Amino acid sequence: MTDQSVGIDAIEIHTGKLKLDLAETFAPKMGDDPGKYTKGLGLYASSFPDTYEDIVTMGANAAHRLMDRKGLEPEDIGRIDVATESAFDHSKPVSTYIAGCLEQVYEGDFHHANKGERKFACVAGTQSIDDAYNWIRAGRHRGRAALVIATDTALYARDDPGEATQGAGAVAMLIDEDPDLVELSNAQGYGSADETDFLKPQQQFPSVDGKRSVKVYLARMREALVDYESVAGDIHPDDFRLGPFHTPFPGMVRKAAVLAYRHITRDTEIEDDLDDQIGRQPRPEAFDDDAAYMDALGDYTDKLKDTDRYQEWYDRTIDPTLSISREVGNWYTGSVHVARVSGLKALAEDGEDATGQKLLVGSYGSGAQAEIHVETVQENWLDEIDALNVDEQLEARYDLDFDEYEDVHDAHNFDEERGVEEFRTPDEEFVFDGWGRMGERKYQYVE
Ligand code: HMG
Repeated sequence: MTDQSVGIDAIEIHTGKLKLDLAETFAPKMGDDPGKYTKGLGLYASSFPDTYEDIVTMGANAAHRLMDRKGLEPEDIGRIDVATESAFDHSKPVSTYIAGCLEQVYEGDFHHANKGERKFACVAGTQSIDDAYNWIRAGRHRGRAALVIATDTALYARDDPGEATQGAGAVAMLIDEDPDLVELSNAQGYGSADETDFLKPQQQFPSVDGKRSVKVYLARMREALVDYESVAGDIHPDDFRLGPFHTPFPGMVRKAAVLAYRHITRDTEIEDDLDDQIGRQPRPEAFDDDAAYMDALGDYTDKLKDTDRYQEWYDRTIDPTLSISREVGNWYTGSVHVARVSGLKALAEDGEDATGQKLLVGSYGSGAQAEIHVETVQENWLDEIDALNVDEQLEARYDLDFDEYEDVHDAHNFDEERGVEEFRTPDEEFVFDGWGRMGERKYQYVE
């Protein structure tokens, strides 16, 4: 094994240009207390695509900004992988559409770049990073970098409980040697099982067993953590500055964080320190049956959650990763990558020098698979984070009223034929421009 450093060199985010305010606009129409969204799920708003936006335009716009900012030409890119669970074609990958868009604005082309599409629900973005990492470490990249684009319109059927967690946006990432943002660990842990909790069998909107999906997320994440420790050794809460996790909604991460903390504090001085206050963690051998053990574990976890020690760790390590998610909802494949940006952005805003700090990154996809790896923040991280314009994009979103929300949902529903006027005028960006003779989607760059 070489010590070649490979990781994420740059990130760009493109949010859908529309916004649904969950507390002010959605909750009253659903007859719900706004607290269910803001406190329970931890969400304030969802992002939606404007009428001319889709997974291709959002991905292409994020990638274009990234390439321009890094001074890249198409021949610098040897690989384009798109991770999505919102694809509209079973054969032609979204990466070809995005490459076609980018070729409208660059002189060169991507004819010698390997392109593909990755599918495993929300974990596919991280899997695409893996593929790029392996490609570079195998020495097959000819000095070129990989473009990984996680792009989704995460819409649920109207009146599905998941409707509250919708979102739309894209994250473009450049994977390269000697990265400017974060280096990826070679060690990884997986938790993977054949689960039926969230799926889209030949349908646009998911079939979801929401309550079960929450349990499956926690179970697979735990397995991945244990698997990670089996290769990298036990981990300790102080080892990590941030813990960006897949965030379908912040309340999900709140549930996962306390379980992770319980796991990584077992047999540490933290468990000893908390002994006087809440006792020691229950051990299975002290119980006659599983049910009694699980009850005791649940009681301990509830008490642990209320300790200052846990709350301080949560506020420092997890809470900063949730701020963008609160305003945009679930972006499926992009979600964990948004969490990484949120966390690093918070450190930058606090003036903290994060160089050399570690991130414990937990990705997850329904169906189901979790992956855990570690990232090390690189010395140019601040320039990369300062270059983002995500705040401006969020601020510029059009605030939909409920009738407009219904129209927009229909406009993006493949089974509806609803013409809706655009809400924001496109400006220097790729837009959806109608259908071609073989049913393909067409795009153009608007100056
Ligand atoms: P629900 O049944 O409508 O909501 O759906 P609820 O009644 O469970 O309430 C949500 C929380 O708000 C609860 O907190 C309530 O107590 C609380 P909890 O008990 O769970 O801690 N609450 C309140 N809090 C304060 N004030 C109030 C109030 N009212 C209620 N007034 C559910 C929730 C998550 C099931 C739904 O949103 C759903 O189905 N979502 C879609 C599935 C999902 O996101 N699953 C997450 C894990 S799977 C995953 O992450 C993968 C995914 O990203 C897809 C992929 O991989 O491709 C989804």
